[in-house]
Amino acid sequence: MAVKSAMEGKSGISAFQRIKLEGIVRRVLDDVKPTEDEMRRITAYSNELMGRLKSAAPKDVEIAFVGSAARGTQIKGSYDMDIFLLFPKGLKEREMENKGLAIAKSIVNRGRGETFIIKYAEHPYLKLIVDSGTGLTADIVPAFKIENAREIGTSVDRTQLHNKFISARLTESEKDNVRVLKAFLKAHNIYGANAKYEGFSGYACELMVYQFGSFINVLQEFSKLNLPLALDPLNRETYRPHHERTGILAKKFKSRFVLIDPTDENRNVTAATSIESIARLCITSRLMLKKPSIGFFYGPRHSDTYSSNRISKLRKELGIDLYLVRFAVPNISEDIIWQQLRRFSKRLSDMLEDNGFSTALSVDSVSKEGAMAAFFISRMKKHYDIIEGPSSFMHVASDRFLDSHGNAIGTFFKDDRLVFIEESRFSDPEEVLRHAIKNEKSLPSYLDRKKVKIYANEIPEELAKPLYDSFIRKTSI
Ligand code: UTP
Ligand code: MN
Repeated sequence: MAVKSAMEGKSGISAFQRIKLEGIVRRVLDDVKPTEDEMRRITAYSNELMGRLKSAAPKDVEIAFVGSAARGTQIKGSYDMDIFLLFPKGLKEREMENKGLAIAKSIVNRGRGETFIIKYAEHPYLKLIVDSGTGLTADIVPAFKIENAREIGTSVDRTQLHNKFISARLTESEKDNVRVLKAFLKAHNIYGANAKYEGFSGYACELMVYQFGSFINVLQEFSKLNLPLALDPLNRETYRPHHERTGILAKKFKSRFVLIDPTDENRNVTAATSIESIARLCITSRLMLKKPSIGFFYGPRHSDTYSSNRISKLRKELGIDLYLVRFAVPNISEDIIWQQLRRFSKRLSDMLEDNGFSTALSVDSVSKEGAMAAFFISRMKKHYDIIEGPSSFMHVASDRFLDSHGNAIGTFFKDDRLVFIEESRFSDPEEVLRHAIKNEKSLPSYLDRKKVKIYANEIPEELAKPLYDSFIRKTSI
């Protein structure tokens, strides 16, 4: 006992494990930290863009370099610079946006191979693509200049406050730990607060490392996570399940996991993080601590193992049927497509369930082939349903039950309960799905009923790969 606790220290992991983990952290950092040279190039380009913006914008517009590139928490492979045009508050929001976009457009230098697209997230911004070979991009975002959260006009206004908070507090080593955490989450498909991943944003990573001190400490916290939990980075406080503040905060934010924004006490930074992503981080942290390895750190690498018959092989091996609903999507924000697809697919899954076809697994996917909702359902065809009623001694309820099932094929008792056998409304899942597409009211607004395709088991080749990718993402740790 004495030996063990000395070995484990108070951190709960052994000295040997810690050394191993630290080795992995160093190796990952080598992989994901941009080189000095790359960082110099990013800084040089952002300075150059900011210079151009400064000369194009009126005097009262401040140009701010923000986001992970400005804070030194970016990882390799995503060389995006976030540059904000901060307008004085008096302006109307629309006016501010239009002016900002016009300034941003005016500085794009086509002669140097720069191009741009206007993106519409919650707020419009311009994505500038530097010469395609470099992988450099810059998001130029119009926002209001504010001093604190009470002055917020649009949701992107917060970014400047985040920048001040993080830049002032994170040490160089903590920044490197943020990079490692981002890489870990990315490898396990839980990085990004967008609707596709419903994971942790870059800002959430920064705050968690600030709060706990290091990547390894974040793993330790999550490996023994108990909900509800509330993190308050401004005071570096962690409110655990029995603390009196925890319940209050969980209620205030309607969430069992709360990460209070230190720049705005009324905002939960992890509001868009799903409970599934939190659970994934809990399990992956535990596995990583138990058996630290670089292979596990980098997660399931699936794209290279794909071959076109993987899905049908899996289906046959399990003796399971696959039903897939596919529809085209308009050119709108991917976040909106994902949000609506999720809701729609949940609705379909509920309808299948209500009709006796319980899905073993449902998988959603958005790719250039469109949006897909796929359902894996045990092989079955059914012709009748068995419906159990209440106890016969519950007089009112059992009378109501008798009245409502007048056309049953057969009636019998199971102890004191009435049981009906009725002809099924739908004999297989495909019929349920066809019925739903035809009649369901809560379809995604952009979905054209006549153009929805339903596939049973045999799916077109071009859909197999995106479906397989989503399948692996959903089913692997
Ligand atoms: P980014 O999505 O570019 O994140 O948003 P990031 O922190 O730079 O991380 P990576 O390395 O590119 O993935 C830029 C800034 O906008 C704010 C944050 O302050 C973030 O740093 N932001 C973005 C949010 O507050 N919430 C979001 O969901 C996204
Ligand atoms: Mn960024």
